[in-house]
Amino acid sequence: MTAMSASAEALLARAVAAAPTLQAIAKDFQAQIAQGLAGEGGSLKMLRTFTRQPSGRERGRVVVVDWGGTKARAGLVELAGGGSVRIVTEEALTFPEAMKREAPEPVFDLIAGVVGRVARAERVDAAPLAFVYSYPARLERIDRAVALASTKGWRLQGLVGRDVAAMLTAALGRAGLARIAVAAVANDTVAALILQSYRARGSDAAARPADIGLILGTGTNLAADLGPAGIRNLESGNFDGVGAVETPYDVALDRELDEPPPGAQRFEKMVSGHYLGEILRRALADLGARTGWFPWGSTSVIAAPFAFDSAYLSRIADDRTAALDDVDALLRSLGIESTRQERHGLRALGAAIARRAARLVAAAFLGTLRFVDPRLDDRRTIAVDGSLWGGYPGFEGLVRAALVELLGRERADRVEIAFVKDSTSAGAAVIAAVAAAQRSEGCSSA
Ligand code: GLC
Repeated sequence: MTAMSASAEALLARAVAAAPTLQAIAKDFQAQIAQGLAGEGGSLKMLRTFTRQPSGRERGRVVVVDWGGTKARAGLVELAGGGSVRIVTEEALTFPEAMKREAPEPVFDLIAGVVGRVARAERVDAAPLAFVYSYPARLERIDRAVALASTKGWRLQGLVGRDVAAMLTAALGRAGLARIAVAAVANDTVAALILQSYRARGSDAAARPADIGLILGTGTNLAADLGPAGIRNLESGNFDGVGAVETPYDVALDRELDEPPPGAQRFEKMVSGHYLGEILRRALADLGARTGWFPWGSTSVIAAPFAFDSAYLSRIADDRTAALDDVDALLRSLGIESTRQERHGLRALGAAIARRAARLVAAAFLGTLRFVDPRLDDRRTIAVDGSLWGGYPGFEGLVRAALVELLGRERADRVEIAFVKDSTSAGAAVIAAVAAAQRSEGCSSA
């Protein structure tokens, strides 16, 4: 490593997240799970989900809506039992940026519009609908979800306190789709967890269901099956026990953003795809101004907030050539001339930021696993999905390495990590089918 990148890394020393620090973070995470479940506050919301593990035999045709970012999707999913799922069709829409801070009705009307297109194309007149709402919501029933303050840059006027299932139902009514009925609302983390369980149990009825679901994309969050407490949506992006590994760049980012406000989503702000590029941009701008390295401050990708896309981090990490030729090509396309030394420095900074994210994810896993099984005696399964997990080269290896450091090889080997790509719609359909079974049994469980 060059002298320059070594110093740049030294600046990010707090981002190293050494094993004892991660152990302390995991312990705090575990304690906050208990605190949240006991209703004693803390930064983990521990929201109820009103679903239970699937049998693997669920069947049916379900319309799904997946809304968790700038894009939303509607689709039709067929479950054939035996763990099999088929996405019959899916259509996406992109919300205009301005809509994120306006009234909620137009958003729901756009969503109902895509549902209508899917329903007409597939000649679906009446069907249950599963609504994946990937923002914090307090469920009161499987089909009633009261919105809490949003995340990922959304702040719809007057949304907090309202039932998002009822709002979607109203929009479907306005679109002439009253026979498509919202049967379940779920978080994307819960969909990932349930899909993994459905597939595993569908092929082997005795298979262990998934214990944890993780999404690591634009945002990040965990769901976990906490036994008697049921399957919970932790809203772990809001975990606040991250002070020990914050750099000055994280502190400034948290303070300067208005949505989510300072103090909210601190874990997410250091871990998820929406933020990693921004942390790197801030580091580059600061180093450029103070040291003369990376003299790129006037280019828009360095000057403008959120202009440095997190996907660039993945591309930079992927370049294994000696002179970092692809990094060079990327920088040139962004209007930046760089030296080979600078490119290596940039790569080291990006790697440090991604590695810290992976280690924080490992600490969150550990805190959750220890809550469920303090000595980690049993085998455990974690279902993961999301663009950062799938897109950053070697991310899973970084998380695994941290788990081995924290748990020792033998216990770490008992933790299976299953990548369930594109789990949201499929998992949501399973949740709706489980809800139908629960309804016909005339009972509901937490
Ligand atoms: C944000 C949302 C959460 C979601 C996660 C991943 O953290 O608050 O509900 O699960 O993003 O999409």
